[in-house]
Amino acid sequence: MPLCTMRQMVDHARKKKYGVGAYNVNNMEQIQAIMAAAKETQSPVIIQASKGALEYTNLIYLKHLMAAAVEENPELPICVHLDHGPNLKTCQEAIALGFTSVMIDGSIDYDTKTPEGKHPARSFADNVRVTKEVVDYAHQFGVSVEGELGTLGGIEDETHTDKVLLTEPSQVEEFVKTTGVDALALAIGTSHGAYKFKHEPVLAMDLITECRKRAPDTAFVMHGSSSVPQELVAEVNKYGGKMPNAMGVPIASIQEAVRRGIQKINVDTDGRMAITAAIRKVFMEKPGEFDPRKYLGPARDALQALIASKMRDFGTAGHAGDYRVKSLRAMKSFYAKH
Ligand code: G3H
Ligand code: 13P
Ligand code: ZN
Repeated sequence: MPLCTMRQMVDHARKKKYGVGAYNVNNMEQIQAIMAAAKETQSPVIIQASKGALEYTNLIYLKHLMAAAVEENPELPICVHLDHGPNLKTCQEAIALGFTSVMIDGSIDYDTKTPEGKHPARSFADNVRVTKEVVDYAHQFGVSVEGELGTLGGIEDETHTDKVLLTEPSQVEEFVKTTGVDALALAIGTSHGAYKFKHEPVLAMDLITECRKRAPDTAFVMHGSSSVPQELVAEVNKYGGKMPNAMGVPIASIQEAVRRGIQKINVDTDGRMAITAAIRKVFMEKPGEFDPRKYLGPARDALQALIASKMRDFGTAGHAGDYRVKSLRAMKSFYAKH
């Protein structure tokens, strides 16, 4: 069963108590690396593309690269997801491309700007309205939907939106019931990018437990889950990079978040760093190199190693087979009835 909805995956992850990584992709090498890691560790996988990724690849190229991943890996459960959909129109575009899951980031109004040039945070009522609109549309096609309550830092920080707010647990039940979302992104203090915490990471872990009580049947998502490993920062800088020291989300915190109720774990930045370190290394060590395969190849290998270790750390490894058994059972019972 190669193509899955996000709902199928997160429901399975919730039942079996593991986290499933959602990894951002923009090009062939990233998709190949993530798929190779999923194959190596026998993991279900969510490959996700942002609006920026869709624009960068001109939609149609990404669609066919995603399709290639599915065709090449008929044994692996794969979900193709739109990350941070800004509005219904972009979600509709992703659904038309064949995505099996979309996120509507209704916490921020991406279509409006304040006089200071920032996107305003949406009110709860407005977030409910836009999210429900996407759910009503997507569910007609069997496509899963992720919503968001609260705002993160990074792409949604003070430079981008006018407010950074943690999720308010008292709003969770009403949001989930009224919108019908399959998964909900919680803002617990993480942010996007490589500069999440200047010192010790501070995360509102209790908030996950609190929200889990309010919405026992909805999957929860943790954005901004890159760990920004210090070895990787050092590696980038060793080869001429200039990344300041900052901290990401420790693996132990992600594992605790999974125990408390997170199922989907979004990672982009760590992958970008692994790719950058590998390319910088080639350019520093072999300044005469100009065959793109000679630097994109090592970048792909480095990304595969990074994602495979995350799949093991998140507990995803080894779960691909569970889906096969399930679909085999479904097939057997189908043929028994027909
Ligand atoms: O959530 C943000 C992801 O890292 C995607 O970033 O919008 O630059 O593609 P992007
Ligand atoms: P990072 O920047 O921590 O990798 O987060 C990515 C993300 O949340 C994508 O939606
Ligand atoms: Zn995100």
